[in-house]
Amino acid sequence: MSHKKVAILISGGGSNMVTLVDSMTGDHPARPCLVLSNRTDAGGLKKAAERGIATAVVDHRPFGKDREAFETELVKPILETGADIVCLAGFMRVLTVGFVSQFEGRMLNIHPSLLPKYKGLHTHARALEAGDTRHGCTVHEVTPLLDDGPVLGQAEVPVLAGDTPELLAARVLEQEHRLYPAVLQRFAAGDRTPIHMS
Ligand code: GAR
Repeated sequence: MSHKKVAILISGGGSNMVTLVDSMTGDHPARPCLVLSNRTDAGGLKKAAERGIATAVVDHRPFGKDREAFETELVKPILETGADIVCLAGFMRVLTVGFVSQFEGRMLNIHPSLLPKYKGLHTHARALEAGDTRHGCTVHEVTPLLDDGPVLGQAEVPVLAGDTPELLAARVLEQEHRLYPAVLQRFAAGDRTPIHMS
């Protein structure tokens, strides 16, 4: 069987990337082909290299506000590796329509909230401030609007008395590590039916 190739984009520690990479074995329909970061100091790069995955870095800083020039470079290693699917996993740059449209229907993102609630940053603090009793994470198809696009899966956690943004983030991250591999496996097999976990 020929496997789908998956490029994973990260900016930080890459714990979601690791769970995705480690899930793609056996009869999984996909295999990782690249871990790509916009930061040279992203901790996930070492973890990917230790797992024998090709890595690349395209630093966004020299491009300043010119997102398109940055993306012209960012897309090159993805195209070179022939990725079929692109997974954003803690990739903290906003992408332009031009970039997103190249991967329409085959780019996924994980976001630490129950979308459509709390698009953007500081999702855990915002859920706490709102007094929510449930919080969680979402995997969705990437469309040009930020943190939008068809939902492929959500996992919920309770908000507990005494929670801080950090405690809540850690509880959500555990669920991210269950949800993203489960969604990717189904998506790579051609199944977009949303998954619900709690
Ligand atoms: C994750 O919580 C992910 O949901 C979030 O960044 C973290 C990355 O952690 N993504 C976003 O906030 C995207 N806007 P990781 O590097 O350990 O996977």
